[in-house]
Amino acid sequence: MDFVNVEFNEGIACITIDNQKKLNALNAQILDELESIFLDMAKKTDIRAVMITGAGEKSFAAGADISQFPSLTPEEAFAFAKRGQAVFSLIESSPKPVIAAVNGFALGGGCELALACHLRYASENAMFGQPEVKLGVIAGYGGTQRLPRLIGSGRALDLLLSGRMVTATEAKQMGLVNDVFSPSELLPKIEEIIQVILAQGSQAQAFTLKAVYEGAGRPIAQGLEVEAAAFRDAFKTEDRVEGATAFLEHRAPEFKNR
Ligand code: COA
Repeated sequence: MDFVNVEFNEGIACITIDNQKKLNALNAQILDELESIFLDMAKKTDIRAVMITGAGEKSFAAGADISQFPSLTPEEAFAFAKRGQAVFSLIESSPKPVIAAVNGFALGGGCELALACHLRYASENAMFGQPEVKLGVIAGYGGTQRLPRLIGSGRALDLLLSGRMVTATEAKQMGLVNDVFSPSELLPKIEEIIQVILAQGSQAQAFTLKAVYEGAGRPIAQGLEVEAAAFRDAFKTEDRVEGATAFLEHRAPEFKNR
């Protein structure tokens, strides 16, 4: 991999996007590399949580690589958006929790990448925004859809129509990030959060993610059907026997993740 590094350590995959000369702007090869990592990860049963961050101290990802924009025809632009959307949807559909460690600029496609993750934690120096209107274009990697779903259409349109950047603190107030830490604390705090995640049943987490994302955007009656089906499927696992038994025996569960 030229631009995306992945390290596996005790159940966690740490993915780092490294295109520092361009503040980790997302080019076509980065999308290919992210896709290949996530496809490969589906086969790694020992990996139970994923973290994505940007290399360096300045940027998570400063958007799609703008140098590609001037020559794009409208049809190529459509394909460009579809490609980014497909990779980010693959990330969102991961059955393993995916956590964005936003260590600096998360702009345009970088913000959209964070939105495709299940949880977002930011360092105090992080800046968020969807500045595409400043370039005369719009968010195309899911921002017009995921941002309003996450923070509401009023707040989303504030960002999408103005192109303005917000600090990590404001992003937290908006509900765009789960929490904010000092730059030196960002990764240790996320490590703690991941350890809590790893202590739970991973099958149950996968069913939770499925219910939340498959139910989103549907009428509530349909969403509740999705939830009931996922609840039923959780009862097909060994973990659910262990979870209830451990509770009744006043001990910590030892999940086998199956
Ligand atoms: N695509 C391509 N190159 C990018 C980029 C992007 N999205 N974001 C930053 N870069 C490049 C810059 O062109 C510059 O390259 P250069 O040194 O060859 O000129 C380098 O990264 C450093 O960026 P620079 O603008 O000098 O840093 P800064 O600290 O002054 O500003 C930003 C940082 C993030 C505010 C600014 O780079 C920016 O606005 N980037 C574009 C963000 C954007 O619009 N993203 C959405 C794209 S759809």
